[in-house]
Amino acid sequence: MSELENIAKQMVAKGKGILAADESTGTMTKRLSSVNVESTLENRLKFRETLFSAEGMKNYIGGVILYDETIKQKTTSGKTIPELIKSFGSIPGIKVDTGAKKLAGSPEEKITEGLDGLRERLAEYYKLGAKFTKWRAVYNISKIYPSELAIESNAHALGRYAALVQEAKMVPIVEPEVLMDGEHDIKKCYEVTAKILKECYKELKLNKVDLKGTILKPNMILPGNKSKNKSTPQEIAKMTLKCLKENVPSTVPGIAFLSGGQTEIEATQNLNEINKINDSNFLMSFSYGRALQQSALKSWAKNIKDTINTQKIFNHRSKMNGLSTSAKWSMDLEKQITA
Ligand code: 13P
Repeated sequence: MSELENIAKQMVAKGKGILAADESTGTMTKRLSSVNVESTLENRLKFRETLFSAEGMKNYIGGVILYDETIKQKTTSGKTIPELIKSFGSIPGIKVDTGAKKLAGSPEEKITEGLDGLRERLAEYYKLGAKFTKWRAVYNISKIYPSELAIESNAHALGRYAALVQEAKMVPIVEPEVLMDGEHDIKKCYEVTAKILKECYKELKLNKVDLKGTILKPNMILPGNKSKNKSTPQEIAKMTLKCLKENVPSTVPGIAFLSGGQTEIEATQNLNEINKINDSNFLMSFSYGRALQQSALKSWAKNIKDTINTQKIFNHRSKMNGLSTSAKWSMDLEKQITA
């Protein structure tokens, strides 16, 4: 097994998944403001350090995605953040795109930027301890979107990104996110996601990316959040698995879903249902931001010195998601916050 394949498999090994803590300063400021905490450099570090030093990291979190600011920070004990993460048996990674900007030829859509100077930035992150990276492309569903232009240009950027990352000896997480905003039904999400995945793998192939050393981070197949037709977790799981089996080459070792605005329980339950019926070779896991952090953040905001309670909540959420990677989660277990 190649080194990259080995890292990819560790990130989403059974029982484990990824903590996406790579919110940009703008996004983190929104998250902190929503719980009335001032977004200072210190507070951003304090919350993240609280999570990264929780016991739940050891058993359930195979990798942590960091933001540029965080990967360069030191903890109160003098360790760097990547060292802290490694000491808990987890792998540090880094978001390397520089954000989704207005797409010139279709200004209501987005193109992800960050390719200029990427080779040099990757070398720096590798030295700081990163073993994997993330790049997020984002697509909207409406009657006319996503356009061919958005699909092709974002896939092209993902292909070039992934090739550069492997050249720098790291595992690229390829994240094409179809947003859940809108009135569309689950079938529409399926069709759009299928088309986007096909285009992404066409570009990854063109760029000679070794798929065994990559992780896919997709959206689940869900109805829009304003859709009149709701879907059950069983339907979501069935459609999601079908879409991935049909459009993702089987050499990709692991798929780690984003939560994308699902509640904590929805994200856990849907992943559990996917794993109940997973008859593919893919390790199906999570790479959640909000669905791993929301409750912990709310608790922390009440008293930022109360590390114990915040970690207890984070440990629980991590454990629940860890169980869902083996289809061993149940609603009853949600009541047992112990560790
Ligand atoms: P959410 O799980 O909150 O959607 O975030 C995951 C992520 O990393 C989006 O890029």
